[in-house]
Amino acid sequence: MIHSRIAGTGSHLPEKVITNFDLEKMVDTTDEWIRSRTGIERRHVAADGETTVDLAEKAARRALDAAGVAPAEVDFIAFGTTTPDLVFPNCGTLLQQRLGCRGVPAFSLETACAGFMYALSIADKYVRCGEARRALVIGAETLSRITDWSDRATAVLFADGAGAVVLEPSAAPGVLSTHLHSDGHYKDLLYCGSGVSRGFAERLAIIMAGNEVFKVAVTKLGSGVDEALAANGLERSAVDWLVPHQANIRIIQATARRLDIPMERVIVTVQDHGNTSAASVPLALDVAVRDGRIRRGDLLLLEAFGGGFTWGSALVRY
Ligand code: COA
Repeated sequence: MIHSRIAGTGSHLPEKVITNFDLEKMVDTTDEWIRSRTGIERRHVAADGETTVDLAEKAARRALDAAGVAPAEVDFIAFGTTTPDLVFPNCGTLLQQRLGCRGVPAFSLETACAGFMYALSIADKYVRCGEARRALVIGAETLSRITDWSDRATAVLFADGAGAVVLEPSAAPGVLSTHLHSDGHYKDLLYCGSGVSRGFAERLAIIMAGNEVFKVAVTKLGSGVDEALAANGLERSAVDWLVPHQANIRIIQATARRLDIPMERVIVTVQDHGNTSAASVPLALDVAVRDGRIRRGDLLLLEAFGGGFTWGSALVRY
């Protein structure tokens, strides 16, 4: 039986940093409020003209480098993003052109913060059925473009970045299982209310009922991690690292408690990255792989939750 495994990870953050102290000058907020309610201290924001695919290309090249795969060898691209460069061509295809892997399937999918989990799940299946051998899985966003910088409720949360992994076939299990969900009943709690078919508003902006999102996120992420463990007949203690969606430190702590896992075994980057939506899990994963915390053979539990709502989890033997 063929499995897929993560052969390499990569990430990229735009150069410009906005700290909580910078935000104090932009909206009625304080560093203390932002840190205590969210855990965020700073976030990266794309420069004028810097696009989601620009960030993704840099992350992708780093992941390919780590995997020892040449860009032209990529044979499948799944790209999670809610902030595409264009209506079409899709970001996956724009990235394919830059990498020079002409003719291979490449697409993007818009499942908000769960975008990487969805992309990983699809790519895993293509590798396992033998139709892809060098699959690039991307989560990349320029959420700053749909953030209302005069709204303190959302401006303090969202940010830009990109993360990538390369999946390749393996005799030993790498990605053990993925679990995807959505529930459109919650569509009014977190959304960006304009688009091609409805028509674009003068200003694109994320609208969020923060408190309610918080409660549902904690519940769904908790059941997501239980589901992943149960599907593999594994105890919570088997997990070496929780790599959660980086939305809010309090949501991360609640999921860690549910798993009974100490915070020392949770990868936390929210203080430096803010909420980068689809990019958040692969960014956190890459940080921990590169700083040596995550090692080959470790069991990772990845999870993400976002607008829709959409959510997903994955158990991965790195
Ligand atoms: N600075 C200072 N005060 C702020 C503020 C800010 N940036 N944003 C909101 N406030 C105020 C509110 O106006 C409210 O004031 P009031 O009591 O006078 O009405 C007070 O702080 C408390 O607001 P509340 O929304 O109840 O705070 P909270 O503890 O729920 O924290 C969030 C707000 C947004 C940090 C929190 O709800 C959250 O993280 N939710 C999940 C969001 C998320 O993760 N979304 C993405 C999912 S992928």
